[in-house]
Amino acid sequence: MTHKLLLLPGDGIGPEIVSQAERVIQTLGRTHGLSVELETALIGGAAYEAEGDPLPEQTLALAQASDAVLFGAVGGPQWDAIERDKRPERGLLRIRAGLDLFANLRPASLVPELAEASSLRPELVAGLDIMIVRELTGGIYFGQPREQGADRAFNTMVYSRSEIERIARRAFEIARLRDRRVCSVDKANVLEVSEFWRQTVTAVAADYPDVTLSHMYVDNAAMQLVRAPKQFDVIVTGNLFGDVLSDIAAMLTGSIGMLPSASLNEQSRGLYEPVHGSAPDIAGQDKANPLATILSLAMLLRYSLGETVMADAVERAVARVLADGLRTADLQSAGSTPVGTQAMGDAVIRALESASH
Ligand code: NAD
Ligand code: IPM
Ligand code: MN
Repeated sequence: MTHKLLLLPGDGIGPEIVSQAERVIQTLGRTHGLSVELETALIGGAAYEAEGDPLPEQTLALAQASDAVLFGAVGGPQWDAIERDKRPERGLLRIRAGLDLFANLRPASLVPELAEASSLRPELVAGLDIMIVRELTGGIYFGQPREQGADRAFNTMVYSRSEIERIARRAFEIARLRDRRVCSVDKANVLEVSEFWRQTVTAVAADYPDVTLSHMYVDNAAMQLVRAPKQFDVIVTGNLFGDVLSDIAAMLTGSIGMLPSASLNEQSRGLYEPVHGSAPDIAGQDKANPLATILSLAMLLRYSLGETVMADAVERAVARVLADGLRTADLQSAGSTPVGTQAMGDAVIRALESASH
């Protein structure tokens, strides 16, 4: 079966890292018979420059017609002062809303070889395997009213029952495939919206008696993630809290350059992207770690295309190059020479090819 895939490289390091993932797709065609129809389209600052819109209609239409989307990153300082609706980040938010990608899965698991790259002591992160399930199309990111005035500005954190129910269900279902524990993170001691979140998640839990539900305030959760991260299995939380907590979780695993994510809708069609941003500070220098994007491709193969064998092969190839000692600069300990983006891509491809012989 031929799958329709859309690549959205975006800005900064986006094109460099997505092109390594594209080479992996091509390699899978040779090694595993992956059959894809690939399209590439503009998003973010690149789309704003070309079309005056960070999400051109044609890009959204192509995404809607695809089985899955692989996204790089958007944004950069040159667009930080333009009108908010035209900014690159708005393109990403609009495509998430346009595809109804309410469930953002951000796994943080430690590749054993990277234990020493973590900012925590090895014994705190050995065997770490957390899944953050972040609500992605609601909350304060999208709440109305919102306004920026001359002397005051505001946003609205709002969640409806159905929005909370669907993300909670997704979290409980994911927990059933793992250690059957869900920790719901909120700020129910202060915010009405969080108290409603907590009540609604608790009600949904009744349908999943085999899964253990706990609740935690977000400030404590941030602390617990760096104190004893292995206590968590699945974390379910709202849009803003999930954004922050997933960057914390990223560092536990060695580098934000390692963390993939999947953003899924009800039909499990989805957009896959690294958790990190466009890293303008290292863009165009062959320094970016492409592994978060390559691991996002593995998630794409697994969740949207059902190509489990290929997903496993990609993840094993990444583990292999790390075991062989290859490190991009973000993972580098002092003393040795890091490899570049392209060389890291080469190594993953070699590992895939040699495993299939
Ligand atoms: P960032 O994630 O882009 O960068 C933070 C730090 O991590 C930088 O020092 C960067 O060099 C490093 N880094 C990130 N990815 C890396 C990789 N693959 N390999 C090696 N090092 C890596 O976050 P930021 O600096 O806060 O934001 C930069 C721009 O990216 C902003 O415009 C922001 O809005 C945007 N952004 C986009 C996304 C996205 O597209 N999903 C996510 C976050 C930030
Ligand atoms: C992320 C990013 C985005 C977010 C921005 C760029 C809109 O930080 O994907 O984590 O806040 O969701
Ligand atoms: Mn973020």
